[in-house]
Amino acid sequence: MKKKLIIDLDTGVDDAQAIMVALAAPNVEVLGITCCFGNTPLENVLKNTLRVLKVCNRLDIPVYCGCSEPLLARKRHAGDYHGKDGLGDVPDPDAPGLELLQKKKAAPAMIKIVNQNPGEVRLVATAPLTNLAVAVQLDPSFPKKLNALYIMGGNTESRGNTTACGEFNFVADPEAAYIVLDRYTCPTYIAPWEFSCRNSLPWSFCDHWLSQNTEKAAFMKKIASLSMKKARSADYQKEITAGQGFNSCDTYAMAAAIDDALITESEEVAVTVELEGTNTRGMMVLDYIEQLKKKHKAFIMKNIDLERFKQMFMNSLK
Ligand code: RIB
Ligand code: CA
Repeated sequence: MKKKLIIDLDTGVDDAQAIMVALAAPNVEVLGITCCFGNTPLENVLKNTLRVLKVCNRLDIPVYCGCSEPLLARKRHAGDYHGKDGLGDVPDPDAPGLELLQKKKAAPAMIKIVNQNPGEVRLVATAPLTNLAVAVQLDPSFPKKLNALYIMGGNTESRGNTTACGEFNFVADPEAAYIVLDRYTCPTYIAPWEFSCRNSLPWSFCDHWLSQNTEKAAFMKKIASLSMKKARSADYQKEITAGQGFNSCDTYAMAAAIDDALITESEEVAVTVELEGTNTRGMMVLDYIEQLKKKHKAFIMKNIDLERFKQMFMNSLK
């Protein structure tokens, strides 16, 4: 049975990797891609998404324009890691034009696609959750019609990559993350920051992955070079990821959505997002003692089958 996906993203480098892993998987049908501000301003996200689809010869996939601002928070981007343009700041004179975008906006498009495929769509969210928050405001029954929700975001040990205690997607729009974790009661799987760091890819594998003699590999090598240089720096390894390899955060959530055997260990716990804390705003809160009396629990990913994950990466650039 094909897995039907909607991907909500803020194409940056790891979002691009996640798209390419999905498009290379034999059992996946991408029904639509919805764009949100995040790593870079929305206009770049739209252009970057089309650039990735072009190199994959998949410009047939509809791309929708979503939110350009968070619900309440001050807007922030991640240009120092992904590049100002979100894809490594490499010139792309042949980039597709924005005339290829759908006229319909992201949230109504998500709702329409899910209404046409009730109970079948897996929503993969690798950006700030603003579009998803808008969707559930427009149609409170939307989450119930999803097969599942896969999120890259949040944290489990209060480690931050953007603020001291905050992971970028949740910190960029804490109110949206709060709404989604509160109102999306479909099966929810979360790939948090620390999990992605602990399951990073060895640099030797990355060199092998990018050395494939294909157009996709050449494209990925170009757009990933800035962020890989940053990620390989000793400071970044020590201070941010505390890991030893490359951390393609979004691809963990995507891989989990397309391969049910990928996640080898997870824990089921009620979660929410801190909105008030001076240092903790945007931090994910795990309610092990069930103080919040939340009926809905999320599956928090803890470990993956790294060899399967590596194979998906290799296939994505063939
Ligand atoms: O914290 C990592 C997340 O923030 C990833 O989704 C990355 O693309 C950035 O959006
Ligand atoms: Ca992202």
